[in-house]
Amino acid sequence: MSDQTRRILVTSALPYANGPIHIGHLVEYIQTDIWVRFQKLRGHECYYLCADDAHGTPIMLRAEQDGVTPERLIERIWREHRADFADFLIEFDNYYSTHSPECRQYAELIYRRLNEAGHISRRVITQAFDPEKQMFLPDRFIKGECPRCGTPDQYGDSCENCGATYSPTDLKNPRSVLSGATPIAKESLHFFFKLADFEAMLKDWIASGPIQPQMINKLNEWFTAGLQEWDISRDAPYWGFEIPDAPGKYFYVWLDAPIGYMASFQNFCDRAGLNFDEFWGPDSTAEVYHFIGKDIAYFHILFWPAELTGAGFRKPTAVHCHGFLTVDGQKMSKSRGTFIKARTYLNHLRPEYLRYYFATKLSDGLDDLDLNFEDFLHRVNSDLVGKLVNIASRSAGFITRRFEGRLADRLAEPELYAEFIAAGESIAQAYEGREFGRAMREIMALADRANQYIDEKKPWTLAKQPGAEADVQVVCGMGLNLFRVLALYLKPVLPGLTAQVERFLQIAPLRWSDVGHPLLGHAIAEFKPLMQRVDMAQIVAIIEESREGAPSGEETPAPSGPLIDDPIAPAIGIEEFAKVDLRVARIVKADVVAGADKLLRLELDLGGEIRQVFAGIKSAYPPADLQGRLTVLVANLAPRKMRFGVSEGMVLAAGGGGGIYLLGPDSGAEPGMRVK
Ligand code: 2FM
Ligand code: ZN
Repeated sequence: MSDQTRRILVTSALPYANGPIHIGHLVEYIQTDIWVRFQKLRGHECYYLCADDAHGTPIMLRAEQDGVTPERLIERIWREHRADFADFLIEFDNYYSTHSPECRQYAELIYRRLNEAGHISRRVITQAFDPEKQMFLPDRFIKGECPRCGTPDQYGDSCENCGATYSPTDLKNPRSVLSGATPIAKESLHFFFKLADFEAMLKDWIASGPIQPQMINKLNEWFTAGLQEWDISRDAPYWGFEIPDAPGKYFYVWLDAPIGYMASFQNFCDRAGLNFDEFWGPDSTAEVYHFIGKDIAYFHILFWPAELTGAGFRKPTAVHCHGFLTVDGQKMSKSRGTFIKARTYLNHLRPEYLRYYFATKLSDGLDDLDLNFEDFLHRVNSDLVGKLVNIASRSAGFITRRFEGRLADRLAEPELYAEFIAAGESIAQAYEGREFGRAMREIMALADRANQYIDEKKPWTLAKQPGAEADVQVVCGMGLNLFRVLALYLKPVLPGLTAQVERFLQIAPLRWSDVGHPLLGHAIAEFKPLMQRVDMAQIVAIIEESREGAPSGEETPAPSGPLIDDPIAPAIGIEEFAKVDLRVARIVKADVVAGADKLLRLELDLGGEIRQVFAGIKSAYPPADLQGRLTVLVANLAPRKMRFGVSEGMVLAAGGGGGIYLLGPDSGAEPGMRVK
C-alpha cells in the first residue's frame, strides 16, 4: 500500500486567456488530473493548481478587437475555461489568474531579489515599431517577403515556404499586421535576466534527475549554444504588470506566467490555511511537479529554476513534458473539422470517453499522441462498455431480483480476488510513473479475467438449476467484487463512472486501501445502465460542428412574420414573466461582424456596465445609425457562445416579413432602468 504520506504540489501549464480550451490542451490537463487523482486516492496530500495566463500583447489586441477592456475579456475567458475544465472532470484545487494581486506581489518580489543580487542587466536595443499604432511589434505581428526565397506574406521570424529563420529587420517590404504601416527601427531600454549566472546550478540540478531522459539531448544543445540573456521587459502599451521603479516598462508575459503557479497556490493557502513556504520555501520537503508540453520546456527547465534559485525559492522536483495531439495522424485543422473545442466535444460526448482514450495512449515520453476516431470508438465501446460495465450488468440483476440486493457473505474464489489485489501494485507503479497506457492495459486484462470467470460460472444457467440458488449469489457477488476493484483502479481516469458505481454499490468514496476489503453480506442498490456506447454519428456531429464555416448559432432565425401569421404563444404567469430582467440600454458602438450575414455586434451601456450582444439586425440598420440610440435588453439571458464571441443578452425588436424594428423607450429613459 501507500508509502508514507507525501506532500505534493502539481501544476499544468497556464492556458492563455484569449481563446477556448481545445482537445489539444486537454491531453495535458487530463494527464495531470489523472496523476493528481491517483495521488489523492493513495492518501497523499496533493494539490493541483492552475490559472489563466492573462497578460501579453495578443490578449491586449484581442480585447481591443472585441471592443472590451482586457479585464473584461480575461474575466469572461476565465469563466469559460473553468466551466470547460469542470465539465471534463478536471478538478483543480485552485484555478486562478496571473492578473491577480498575488501574482503581482511575487513577480515584483522575484524581480527585486534578482535585481539586488545582480542578475538583471539593462541595455538599449533596436526593434521594429509601428508608427501608426505607436507600439513595438512582436515578430509575429510583422509580415513581408522572405529574405531567402521571396515568398510573400511571411511572418517576421520564419518562412513557411523554405523554413528560413531570420529577424524581422531582414524581411523585404515589411509591414505591420496591425495597421499595414511600414515598421520603423526604434531604440528602447530593455531589462534582461542573466541566465548564464545559473549555468553551473542548472547542470547540477539536471544531473539530479528532474528531467525525462528524452529531454537531455535537447538540453545539451541548449548548453552548447550558450545560455543567452533573456529579455524580460516590454514597452508600453502593454497588458501586464509595470516593472517597479521603471515607468512605462512592463514584465514580459513569460516572466509572470510561471509565477502564476505560486500566485494560485498562495491564493489557495490563504483560503485553506496552508503554509506557502512549506511548499515553495528554500527548505521545503514537499514535492513540486510541473506538467507541460515539450514546446515550453526551455522556460520551465532553464529560466524558471534559475529565477527561483536567484530569488531564494526551491526548484521543482521534476518537470514532466508530453508530446502534442494529432488527429488521424495530422495536425488539428479547422478546415478538416479536427480543431475541436472542449465545449464542442462536450455537446455530444461524455468526457470520460476522451479521458479513457487519452489514458490508453499516454506514457512518460515525449511522443505525440494520435486521436484516431475509429480507434477511439472501438476502444471505448469495447473496453468500457463491452468489458467493464458488462461485468456489473451481468451480475447485478440476479442479486437484485433474487437476493433483495444482498451480496453473499463469502467470496467464491478468494485466490482470484487476491490476484486482483496483487495486480494493484503494478498498476499503482504505472500510474505513479505516468505510464497510463500500461495501467489501462493491466486493468483491462483484469476485466477480461472477470468476464472469463462469469462466462465459466454461467450464473444464468445456475439460476435455472434447482438447489443452486446460493451459488448464484456467491458467483454474482464475486463478479461485483471484482467489478468494484476495477472501478477503484480506474477511478483516477473515470471519476464520474466510479461515483455512479459507488452509488450503485452503496459504499463510501473508494480509496486505494479499500481494495483489501471485499463487500460481503452487503446490500446494493438497483443496477442502472452506467455507460452508453459511442455512436459514429456523435463523432461526425463533433467534426461537422468544428469545421470552419460551420453554422454555430451565430445567425438569428429570420423574423417570424407579422402577428397575423404568428399565433400568440401559450399564456404564462406573471411570476414567470417577472423572471425576465429587461433593461434600458444605450448602444455605444455597433460594428459589422466579418463573416456573418445578418449580425451586428453591439456594445451596450447599462448604466455603467458594458455588454456585448450580437443581434440579427444588420439588414435593417447601418451600424452608424444605431450609435447613441436607446433600446431594451434582456439582461439576464444566459450568455451564448457564438463563433464571433459571446453574446451577453438580447435586444428586443419587432420582426415581420416586412422588416425589423428595434424597440426603444421614450426620451428621458436612462440606461440601466428596469423595463416593467
Ligand atoms: O504556452 C502557453 O500556452 C503558455 N500560456 C503557458 C504558460 S505555462 C506557465 F509558465 F505559466
Ligand atoms: Zn522563404
